[in-house]
Amino acid sequence: MKTLLVTGGAGFIGANFVHYWLAQYPQDKVIVIDALTYAGNMANLATVNSNPNFTFVQGDICNTALVEQLLRAHSVDTLVHFAAESHVDRSITGPDAFIETNILGTYSLLKAAKIVWLDNKDTGVSNHRFHHVSTDEVYGTLSATDPAFTEETAYAPNSPYSASKAASDHLVRAYHHTYGLNVTTSNCSNNYGPYHFPEKLIPLVITHILHNEALPIYGDGQQIRDWLYVTDHAYGIDLVLNKGRVGENYNIGGNNEWANIDIVKTICTLMDQQFASNSALAAQFPKAAAAQKGDSASLITYVKDRPGHDRRYAIDATKTNNELGYQPKESFETGITKTVAWYLNNEAWWRAVMDGSYKDWLQKQYDAPAS
Ligand code: NAD
Ligand code: TYD
Repeated sequence: MKTLLVTGGAGFIGANFVHYWLAQYPQDKVIVIDALTYAGNMANLATVNSNPNFTFVQGDICNTALVEQLLRAHSVDTLVHFAAESHVDRSITGPDAFIETNILGTYSLLKAAKIVWLDNKDTGVSNHRFHHVSTDEVYGTLSATDPAFTEETAYAPNSPYSASKAASDHLVRAYHHTYGLNVTTSNCSNNYGPYHFPEKLIPLVITHILHNEALPIYGDGQQIRDWLYVTDHAYGIDLVLNKGRVGENYNIGGNNEWANIDIVKTICTLMDQQFASNSALAAQFPKAAAAQKGDSASLITYVKDRPGHDRRYAIDATKTNNELGYQPKESFETGITKTVAWYLNNEAWWRAVMDGSYKDWLQKQYDAPAS
């Protein structure tokens, strides 16, 4: 039995991880610490809130004393660190929060873990683990013909977001090598699925189709990402926690590379099919082009490119596959179909999110269509 402290558990991947973990290991205890920034949402945890093995604490990971107190009070043995500022576009317009949460916040967690687990050893926990959730973006960008990122690929982050994640990865590594903290790190590709905040590409496209709003494609739309269904990320972290070697990094990916424009066109087709096969959708979302038998793809609008936009990410997960027996369970077809269905069935969730303050910020990001 484990007692987990999950940072950022009210965000997209953290919440999916909490759902996964409590379903998989119902005897385990899960404590979430989350500052509830614009991206954190208690609605993401509504289905586990009444579980007696679940505890939510609103707090900032930069508050080392609070983290120490939680590690002690609950005799936590496993810390899984998701909390971060996670959106590349926001890191370009406002890097401060990324430096604070992603670098200083990770440092704060490492300090608290070292004090409780290594220096004072006063919680009776004999086998601790600090798992750090990172991204493939720390490896930089690939050309169309470059081999995919392995765990040996040199770090070359290009955005303030990926640079802040790279810095935190290095701190985690240093706490293992210098102090003997039992750390593991996973570097995962782009996730998608339920509870994904609608500023990110896939949920943005789904919700814009339903509102009949432009689908902004940065640059030429030929940038490539390697997409993984979010539950398969949670499953990969589970394997790293249970079978991974301390001090190691593990790449987690879906072997599923798509150009952005092809992802967007695929979602448009799926949405049109949903409207064609379910007449209730036209009444629910009357503004959608598909409600008037139109074509969602007509909303595609090329806009100015993101500054410093990485061209291609691709994960080589051979180490994770061979050493931990990892294989994603969802294909892209099943995962994206589930995701579209989730957004169609959870209008109240995304409407509440979109009515929030982020909407104004998002509007300002849209450039006039490229000529
Ligand atoms: P998210 O933005 O949806 O959620 C982040 C969560 O962290 C939110 O609940 C927010 O309230 C919380 N948080 C932010 N600052 C905090 C602070 N100072 N103290 C406590 N909580 C704070 O992010 P996500 O997409 O769920 O990403 C989770 C993690 O996974 C991040 O570390 C990210 O770098 C990593 N990752 C994300 C992806 C992806 O595709 N989204 C891919 C690979 C890795
Ligand atoms: P995003 O979901 O922001 O993830 P990341 O930048 O971490 O990969 O974006 C995924 C890709 O989609 C990325 O290449 C940027 C592109 N993109 C658009 O073309 N239009 C958009 O409106 C958004 C949000 C992203």
